[in-house]
Amino acid sequence: EKGGYASFMLKEIAEQPKAVTDTLLGRIDGAGRLSLDEVRIPDAVLREADKVVIVACGTAFHAGLIAKYAIEHWTRIPCEVELASEFRYRDPILNRRTLVVAISQSGETMDTLMALRHAREQGAKVLAVCNTNGSTIPRESDAVLYTHAGPEVAVASTKAFLTQLVACYLLALYLGQVRGTQWGDEIHAVVRDLARIGDDVERVLETMEPVRALARSLADKDTVLFLGRHVGYPVALEGALKLKELAYMHAEGFAAGELKHGPIALIEEGLPVVVVVPSPRGRSVLHDKIVSNIQEIRARGARTIVIAEEGDEAVVPYADHLVRIPATPTLLQPLVATVPLQVFACELATARGNEVDQPRNLAKSVTVE
Ligand code: F6R
Repeated sequence: EKGGYASFMLKEIAEQPKAVTDTLLGRIDGAGRLSLDEVRIPDAVLREADKVVIVACGTAFHAGLIAKYAIEHWTRIPCEVELASEFRYRDPILNRRTLVVAISQSGETMDTLMALRHAREQGAKVLAVCNTNGSTIPRESDAVLYTHAGPEVAVASTKAFLTQLVACYLLALYLGQVRGTQWGDEIHAVVRDLARIGDDVERVLETMEPVRALARSLADKDTVLFLGRHVGYPVALEGALKLKELAYMHAEGFAAGELKHGPIALIEEGLPVVVVVPSPRGRSVLHDKIVSNIQEIRARGARTIVIAEEGDEAVVPYADHLVRIPATPTLLQPLVATVPLQVFACELATARGNEVDQPRNLAKSVTVE
């Protein structure tokens, strides 16, 4: 069933271009308009919503963190993202105009289910973003936007994550379309780029051999740090989570701007630090700031592993290892930037002799609180 791959995880990483494309299928028309008829929340409700609250756990929570940037930028609706396990216990402020989005691959995660039950009791509308047809979370929600990743068997989430991102982008764009906000040239360009992002993911997968070799060379390290800014920050968190759960290494993701507020003290000679670099086009201020961060950590001995767009020459002098990803609009970059981090964690775990499909102490779906 592994289709010739050594693990389900490798198979599922390889399936990502198709998973992404399948999740877009039938949801963008030839004119670049979104249609999400299946969602079944009346447009009137979406027009009235004055707040979006995303609840999820683990990797799905990271998808939610990225979705916030897209939702707020494209729709101007305030968006909060919270760990489902924290949400319910702090008496959150919800009402009929709150749109709660529950993201879950399995549709059975107890913390997420409890959070959505609580939200509905308060009168909020709940939309599930889910990969499992007919599972509990979509059944108990007002509406569902399915991801079409296909069954995900490996415990560590890969293709489900990419499709959660796609579903969240579609939702954000759809909200923007329904509300008539910001629906200009920028959005049309994003929709166009989104429609062909599967090819970009494919291109990343074709260039992963150096990442695998690098991962093997780091098998005896104790710690790897990950830095990012803007949407690259949740990508850094996701890279660190994958490494913890698969390689059983100490890994942490930081917002690059926080370095000087503490984490830079961790930098020492030879410490591997993965940096996710925003596009030099678009929000170029962010790009320039992260280039200085790379300089700062390298001056203190870090071994820099830099993930940067093709054509970004500014990072070259400071990268001990350079991983190229295709140019995409800033907000879509996580779809291509996460892939090398998945491959990196999978290979490093294998080099350490770990079983990647069934990491110790973990279950695929967490049905207890
Ligand atoms: C990490 C991972 C977990 C899940 C989390 C939520 O690789 O797989 O962090 O993302 O347990 O699971 P779902 O999405 O099924 O609610």
